[in-house]
Amino acid sequence: MLSEFDKALDRTNTNCEKWDNLMEVFGRDDVVPLWVADMDFASPPEIVAALAERVQHPTYGYTFASQSLREAAAGWVERRYGWEISPEWVVITPGVIPGLAMSVLAYTQPGDGVIVQSPVYPPFFEVVEDNGRRVLNNELKIVDGRYAMDWDDLQAKLDDGARLVLLCSPANPVGRVWTDDELARLSSMCAPREVIVASDEIHCDIVYPGAMHIPFGSVGQGAANRSVTLMAPSKTFNVQGLATSIAVIPNERLRDRFVRVRTGLGLGQGNVFGLAALEAGYGEGNAWLDRAVKYLEGNLRYLQDFAKSRLPGITVAPAEGMYVVWMDCRRLGRRFGLDADGLGDFFVNRARVGLSDGRMFGPGGEGFFRINIGCPRATLKEGLERIAEAIALGP
Ligand SMILES: Cc1ncc(COP(=O)(O)O)c(C=O)c1O
Repeated sequence: MLSEFDKALDRTNTNCEKWDNLMEVFGRDDVVPLWVADMDFASPPEIVAALAERVQHPTYGYTFASQSLREAAAGWVERRYGWEISPEWVVITPGVIPGLAMSVLAYTQPGDGVIVQSPVYPPFFEVVEDNGRRVLNNELKIVDGRYAMDWDDLQAKLDDGARLVLLCSPANPVGRVWTDDELARLSSMCAPREVIVASDEIHCDIVYPGAMHIPFGSVGQGAANRSVTLMAPSKTFNVQGLATSIAVIPNERLRDRFVRVRTGLGLGQGNVFGLAALEAGYGEGNAWLDRAVKYLEGNLRYLQDFAKSRLPGITVAPAEGMYVVWMDCRRLGRRFGLDADGLGDFFVNRARVGLSDGRMFGPGGEGFFRINIGCPRATLKEGLERIAEAIALGP
């Protein structure tokens, strides 16, 4: 059954950022695109059928988040994470980053400090700085080859007057799926000053054996009361272009403030196709997702084995979840006498692969590159072979 993911789909000429924007991003169009975080797989047939059915009715007027949609979302969260949520806690947003931005606007004032943990997805900085708040960067550290939170520095940032934490869980790009203990510790550190946590869990549905995703709001009553848990069908079912996500906000006061900001921005109106896809995915997408995760796990193992045997100087970080994987390329840079710019040039112009340069993820990202394994194995193999050949040619 997993062979469904081996099928190469031609995504060119579909206004596809990953495939149609190569010239603009990499300056050439012959790279194997292993960058922006969507998958080259068809979305689940259940979603395609729901969209096709909705398209058939030729009116696309104003819509709303129905009770059955909220129940589908709540059912998904309970089935997959054992977190019992009320459908009333579910607020629709036009994306997870909009949900983070709304949290910044709802729970902080201009000039307030907001904690982020780099290396992290770049909009985490933008939603803070572009809204006139201060980034307090609690940089992640590497302990015995694994990323961890720097608790002492976190305490210092909380003492510095932070009002909000933007948590990335699982952590893109470093590949951590935070444990119960880590989340509970974060929650208890935020409690004394009632610091709120907005937890971006967009990647949570793709987690590999050995790790278990725990929604932040499920960690305890304190966490539930002081958090916004942001989830989405987008990464899960490859429907990013439909711009429809959820925020789970158990606390009524926080929910009201969040909804007021959404209304104030004029973003209360849902997207008719996004909502249809969300309900179909959360309602019927379980089996497809389990198959997709199995396939991705195979890709991850392929990458890890390939890197060990054929990519000297590149170390793949342990990936506990997600289809974007963090690679430490600093040894390769040293061996080849390349700085971060040189490494970027090496991957694009010598290897001809399109990766995400770690520097875009903020402090701690230099010398790292992120690879997207959400593609047929043959595409991944082609990209990796190109890197291996370029390395074999020497500096
Ligand atoms: C951690 C993280 N958050 C959010 C997003 C994007 O969210 P959205 O498109 O729903 O705003 C991404 C996309 O790559 C991501 O990796």
